[in-house]
Amino acid sequence: MEKKILITIDGQEVTAKPGQTILESATENGIFIPTLCHYSRTTNVGACRVCVVEVEKARSLVASCCMPVSPGMVIRTNTKQVRDAQRMIVELLWSSGDHNCLTCEQNGQCELQNLIYWLKIEQPRFPIQAPGYAPETSNTMIQRDLNKCVLCGRCIRACNEIQVNEVLDFSMRGSHAKVGPAFDADYIASSCVFCGECLQVCPTGAITYRQAKFAGRPWETEKVRTTCTYCGVGCQMDLFIHEGKIVKVSGNREYGKPNEGSLCVKGRFGMDFIAHPDRLKKPLIRYDKNGDLKEASWDEAYKFIADKLTAVKKASGADSIAGLSSARCTNEENYLFQKFMRAVIGTNNVDHCARL
Ligand code: FES
Repeated sequence: MEKKILITIDGQEVTAKPGQTILESATENGIFIPTLCHYSRTTNVGACRVCVVEVEKARSLVASCCMPVSPGMVIRTNTKQVRDAQRMIVELLWSSGDHNCLTCEQNGQCELQNLIYWLKIEQPRFPIQAPGYAPETSNTMIQRDLNKCVLCGRCIRACNEIQVNEVLDFSMRGSHAKVGPAFDADYIASSCVFCGECLQVCPTGAITYRQAKFAGRPWETEKVRTTCTYCGVGCQMDLFIHEGKIVKVSGNREYGKPNEGSLCVKGRFGMDFIAHPDRLKKPLIRYDKNGDLKEASWDEAYKFIADKLTAVKKASGADSIAGLSSARCTNEENYLFQKFMRAVIGTNNVDHCARL
């Protein structure tokens, strides 16, 4: 049986698992501790200190996302000292950037904005000193505005630990510290593969989805979970739809497997084809070898295919026909395809593009 540890959080005796952090055991027991740099799929680094709590006999406040529980630990999450520290931290973060929510794409889903509201901060006590970086607009997928970066390092850990692309890191020191690819390059000039994991984990408007800019506020979009059709992995994704158009795509974390919320460049950004004017919407048939393709109904197309297959089978036998299916199809579609080839056409000549 798994060993349990008895601890006290806010006067309530709770059990925790050995190795759990204070934050994990508090969350498991329904006790809220605010966080900012913490991201459950990456290591905890204690960068922001927003999650500080009081621990009896500790010299100072401790970062609950990094501190493991120990037997008999007495923790307080909502004292004046804790809230004062959290307010100070959040005010410092606010004043060290240009967090102009009016036009920020993250407005309504920004974790810094939520923290400010939750801590009831009207204004930071400190003068706002935005670093004055020029926003990066040199690519069509990811927009970076380091004036809104709180240096939580989530994007760095997501890039290095989740996607293992190892593109992002901190550079410079002190108030000049910033996040980005080597040699301060733009994403487009770096080894970035545009998976967009950095964008998905960014808690503020520092890294945003460029195609979604001015395409609809978060609260105006409808979220629909679906399965990516680009390959056979079956990644779960959320489509954000506004006025009948997909404005943004995000990896779905709640469903878990197989992608745990991550996506590749195609799944996250390759959605232009859906509403593209060149997209085929009706079957096209070329009746003569050198003739033009002509629009046809589905009934005409199916009849054309059936007549041709029947003629080839009659003239040269079933094994003169082969079928190649696709990794973009679902398992069920691929199953039906091989069934069609074997049971209807009468051949085992079936293959699949994923083997190429
Ligand atoms: Fe714990 Fe940032 S959330 S230090």
